[in-house]
Amino acid sequence: MPKLKAIILVGGPGMRLRPLTEDRPKSVVPVLNLPAIEHTFAYLKQYGVEDIILALNYLPDVIKSYFGDGSRCGVHLTYCLEKEPMGTAGAVKNAAAYLDGSFFVMNGDIFTDLNLTEMLSFHREKKAMATIALTWVDNPSAFGVVETDSNRKVKRFIEKPPLAEATTHWINAGTYILESEMLKYIPPNQHYMFEKGLFPALLEAGEPVYGYPYRGFWLDMGNPGAYYSINIDLMMSKVKSPLIAPFTSDEKGIRCGADVKIHPSAVITPPVLMDRGCFIGKGVHLTGPVVIGRDCRLEDGAVVENAILWDNVIIGADSRLANCIVSSRAVIKAKQEVVNCIVTPANTVPLLR
Ligand code: GTP
Repeated sequence: MPKLKAIILVGGPGMRLRPLTEDRPKSVVPVLNLPAIEHTFAYLKQYGVEDIILALNYLPDVIKSYFGDGSRCGVHLTYCLEKEPMGTAGAVKNAAAYLDGSFFVMNGDIFTDLNLTEMLSFHREKKAMATIALTWVDNPSAFGVVETDSNRKVKRFIEKPPLAEATTHWINAGTYILESEMLKYIPPNQHYMFEKGLFPALLEAGEPVYGYPYRGFWLDMGNPGAYYSINIDLMMSKVKSPLIAPFTSDEKGIRCGADVKIHPSAVITPPVLMDRGCFIGKGVHLTGPVVIGRDCRLEDGAVVENAILWDNVIIGADSRLANCIVSSRAVIKAKQEVVNCIVTPANTVPLLR
């Protein structure tokens, strides 16, 4: 595949991930103990896409100071800041100076195994000016639906149709290939979106816009339930990240970082991933999938199942935690039972899935 660039729409604070993202951009929430977007870099790199532009407007320094020029991840990063959110298409226009020829656009909160090489062949074969990856969902009413003809040419976009009125279940999967000439249709210095602005404008102008349907894995990490699912799906190898070797059901399915102390009486059932500095006390039961961040402490007799723990979490003695996300520095006192919850240092709320 020729070396194309990609622009990732990193966007705003991701309010829909609340209460997990009060103090950090959504793109750096930990997914299997790595910032979410690092998995996206590795995914793009698999297809030879190493020149990546990040379009951002919220806490850019958090991302910049972590990734720098991207060399640690084997990619080259260019940061394109917006003073005010410019909208999805406006953010791409804002990066026009860095874009030429054909390029990929990706929403920053998507996990997918879409084959970019095949999508690009389709784009070329159709002589498209814009190609939109499409994924099939049971209920399209919360998404942007894309109607195509039998040749896959886009006919119409319908935003969030009521289920009964949806004419198709193929939705915009948040990954596009665009030709840079198409940027002229995006008005400069103004908030402008793809679904409501650029794509309808391209259709109006008679430009060839195609939909590329695929049936693989797709998940929009847009709420805590989806965030929980992506961690579990990766642990269970329902989807793969190039950064994480698949977990097995033997002892190789238990992975620990440096300086982890595990009491010999602890019972650990894979898949379990534990970052460095953790302490697992006497008689602790860990039943995977479980992800544990840095320097967590699971006191004697604690039971943890199907859970995602961020850094510096304490699970008190004889507590039981199941189907939960626990954010950094949260403490669960001794002898508590917490099931189906998001636990932060400030509060505990139900985890809706
Ligand atoms: P969030 O509000 O971040 O949860 O976005 P969303 O998942 O509801 O979807 P939307 O269609 O608004 O955005 C798609 C992607 O583009 C997400 O990754 C957003 O974070 C990102 N995005 C949305 N608006 C902007 C923007 O004004 N500038 C940039 N750079 N990215 C944006």
